[in-house]
Amino acid sequence: MDATLDQISIISDSQCRAEDIARHLAGMFVTQSFARRNLAQAKPAKYTIVDIDLEDSSDFPDLRRWLELRPKAGTAIFAVEPGVRRQVLQAYALGATDFVERPLNNQALLTALFGDIGSLAGDPSARSVGNSDGVSAGIGALQNIFTSVTSGTAVDLKTIHAAGDTVVSHIEAEGLVRWIDTVRQHHSQTYQHCLLVTGVGVAFGQHLGFCSGDRQKLAFGGLLHDIGKAGVPVAILEKPSALTDEEMAVMKQHPLLGFEALRAMPGIHPDMLDVVLHHHEYLDGSGYPHGLGASELSDIVRMMTIADVFGALIERRAYKPPFSCEAAYQVLENMGCKLDTDLVREFRPFARLQIM
Ligand SMILES: [Fe+2]
Ligand SMILES: [Fe+2]
Repeated sequence: MDATLDQISIISDSQCRAEDIARHLAGMFVTQSFARRNLAQAKPAKYTIVDIDLEDSSDFPDLRRWLELRPKAGTAIFAVEPGVRRQVLQAYALGATDFVERPLNNQALLTALFGDIGSLAGDPSARSVGNSDGVSAGIGALQNIFTSVTSGTAVDLKTIHAAGDTVVSHIEAEGLVRWIDTVRQHHSQTYQHCLLVTGVGVAFGQHLGFCSGDRQKLAFGGLLHDIGKAGVPVAILEKPSALTDEEMAVMKQHPLLGFEALRAMPGIHPDMLDVVLHHHEYLDGSGYPHGLGASELSDIVRMMTIADVFGALIERRAYKPPFSCEAAYQVLENMGCKLDTDLVREFRPFARLQIM
């Protein structure tokens, strides 16, 4: 049993359906499933999914008492028939904290378990992001990252590395323009931003002649850099208008939140912690969270900061048109000694990218 994963209890009338749910949640939870008549076998875990026939009330009192034993702040999600209000009321009477309609799907379950952050990814195979393996891999990795941090479980670094490899191969084969055009169609601002920064970082490394290992590092850094946003309320992350000062102050906590989430994780490279914690620092000491100076900022952090600013300017937002690459590059130049001016000069070819 993996001690880093949370446990989830699945109560189902059908072993087949229970296995199906367990498959959806593999890698995020340790699952224990049993039939409604065998509740006495175990205590409820922190998370419980109840997928039973709510028209059969024969052992409801036992189920209600059993659910009362769940840990404080535990979650109990009931499956109900779509549109059958009677079942929703029944579920809440039994102790549900939320419900999902059948047929169950991964997205609805994750949203019910973790709140909106789990739903940001959307369906990786959805048409809105095209039929791109690279983009789907990136979205899958981001979903994995954000869900892990939200649920307090370890990030699956192997999966993220594999996704990083796919992203690198995709950008090498298809080019950055195609990547940007595709990822800018993603419905979530947060996901769009992370994928843009990843693509720009990888392409920048390619332009500078980095070896494939270093380009993969940039992909990994791009996917992980805003991991701390998993700790920022979705209402702020996805706000369709400019942030207030108070909301900005909350948003600015994300480098520290990300660092805290990753620092104890075995196998995490110190360069990645550096990127997560310092990608909003500037060379003149005016950045956050620590106001570091040039001597304390590594090359990979300097590159990711350029990719981050550029990515943020060219992303689509509900309340303002995106910058052209030329205009975004102008902003980088105007930032002067906040950024590494040699690297900004090297970045100049990106000003000429023609994106729609
Ligand atoms: Fe950030
Ligand atoms: Fe960012």
